[in-house]
Amino acid sequence: MYKTDFLVLGSGISGLSFALKIAEKYKDATVTIVTKNEIDESNTKYAQGGIASVYNQSVDTFEQHIEDTLVAGDGLCDEKVVRMVIKDAPTRIQELIDWGTRFDTNKKGTFDLGKEGGHSQNRVLHYKDITGGEIERALIEQVKEADNINYLTYHYAIDLITEHQAQKKKTKRNSKLSCFGAYVLDAKADVVKTFVSKFTLLATGGSGQVYTTTTNPEVATGDGLGLAYRAKAEISEVEFIQFHPTALYNPGEYPAFLISEAVRGFGAKLRDFKKQKFMHRYDDREELASRDIVARAIDNELKRSGAAHVYLDCTHLDFEKFQAHFPNITEKCASLGIDIRNDFIPVVPASHYICGGVNVNKKAKTSIKNLYACGEVSRTGLHGANRLASNSLLEALVYSHRAFLNASKKYAKVNMPDNIPVWNDSGVVKNMENILITHDRAEVKTIMSNYVGIVRSDERLLRAERRLKGLYEDNKRLYDHSELSIDLCELRNLITTAYLITQFSKNRKTNCGGFYNLDLIGN
Ligand code: SIN
Repeated sequence: MYKTDFLVLGSGISGLSFALKIAEKYKDATVTIVTKNEIDESNTKYAQGGIASVYNQSVDTFEQHIEDTLVAGDGLCDEKVVRMVIKDAPTRIQELIDWGTRFDTNKKGTFDLGKEGGHSQNRVLHYKDITGGEIERALIEQVKEADNINYLTYHYAIDLITEHQAQKKKTKRNSKLSCFGAYVLDAKADVVKTFVSKFTLLATGGSGQVYTTTTNPEVATGDGLGLAYRAKAEISEVEFIQFHPTALYNPGEYPAFLISEAVRGFGAKLRDFKKQKFMHRYDDREELASRDIVARAIDNELKRSGAAHVYLDCTHLDFEKFQAHFPNITEKCASLGIDIRNDFIPVVPASHYICGGVNVNKKAKTSIKNLYACGEVSRTGLHGANRLASNSLLEALVYSHRAFLNASKKYAKVNMPDNIPVWNDSGVVKNMENILITHDRAEVKTIMSNYVGIVRSDERLLRAERRLKGLYEDNKRLYDHSELSIDLCELRNLITTAYLITQFSKNRKTNCGGFYNLDLIGN
């Protein structure tokens, strides 16, 4: 049994920034970060483009950023949330800078602001094309210096602890529940530890691994959605999956390498398999239409032509400037023999971001007492039906701050929970057939990619639902009788997440933003 005042699940931008603030404010508090891999292994680390905010007020305004976010969200954003996040951006970004994060500047010494799809102005702060990696570096350095933050790598949260375990009560969704911590698998020691906490933050990131082609790292397995769903927290809008239009087409490479949207912001053009431009046929904003539109246009071109990929053409761009802004992308392409001065880059859409998630209010509170959520696992109302590019790191920062403010207010009033039962794993045996987990993981991805992808239909969703039910039964049998491993627990969360995306897709009755069902055209 481990007791900690604040338990943080996940080590991306949300978890780390929350932990730093709490640890700084309450020097006597214990803050524990549990993360299932190395501390820097998160979706944050792979964010290339950057973080959107209004800095050049001679041409840009908060109102324009708000409007762009609302347009991308296709009517489903919560406007109050949009206003709050966008206006809070400069203050929160300044904190990142104070923690040591670097952003590129231009010759005038002001921020070099990039442009991405759906933005009417250049407003994306970036550090070359490795912005997320730079943010993680700076935050991790700070965390390592903090005396009262304990971070545990290769620790995997299995289940949140609520009345269900604490009082052995059957709990219902919508009933008043509290969170008392989490059961956590220490994967190196092969034991399940009980972490009791006053406050728990879900900052577990995304779930791109439910699809075959994804830009998300292998850790993005929908763990937070699985945890929240089993704990009976409210979840919504998970049918809105954002497919990034331009992942590098390189069969065998997994996850897919991202060709940042900022490359299109820099002037790159899409071309079909005959090397013709096509975006003008889909949207007046062409390559800089919002992501759902560009991804669907590419999907349509691929289906019409039967080609495996389209191209991104950078040959007309100033190479020196391109290389300075996108050194990582230039190097990656060169390593595959693609000289972007002469060759087009082969690209395909790939699952990239889940817009919905665990419901939180403006204080980052979930429907479960003392459980907060922020970052990709959460649904705040900022993104609506489709996230505007580079708004996600921003949302994570603003909401981890909101969680910090609210938990601070309550800190003195909340007692450490007691009488929490430890994990019971009597009767389980070592799983001798790990290959079954590998098979099932591959099957989830195939089901989701074939039936719950960019373009869906009623029949496809029905097929996905049926097949996922079978996988759920198989996984449950294995889970109930086996010693736990990260692979097995991840599979459980992948199946739950896939099932949730499918169910929410079945329930949505009109197409909007990133959601498109052929049987709903005209509704
Ligand atoms: C990109 O660099 O294209 C990704 C940025 C984002 O997803 O917001």
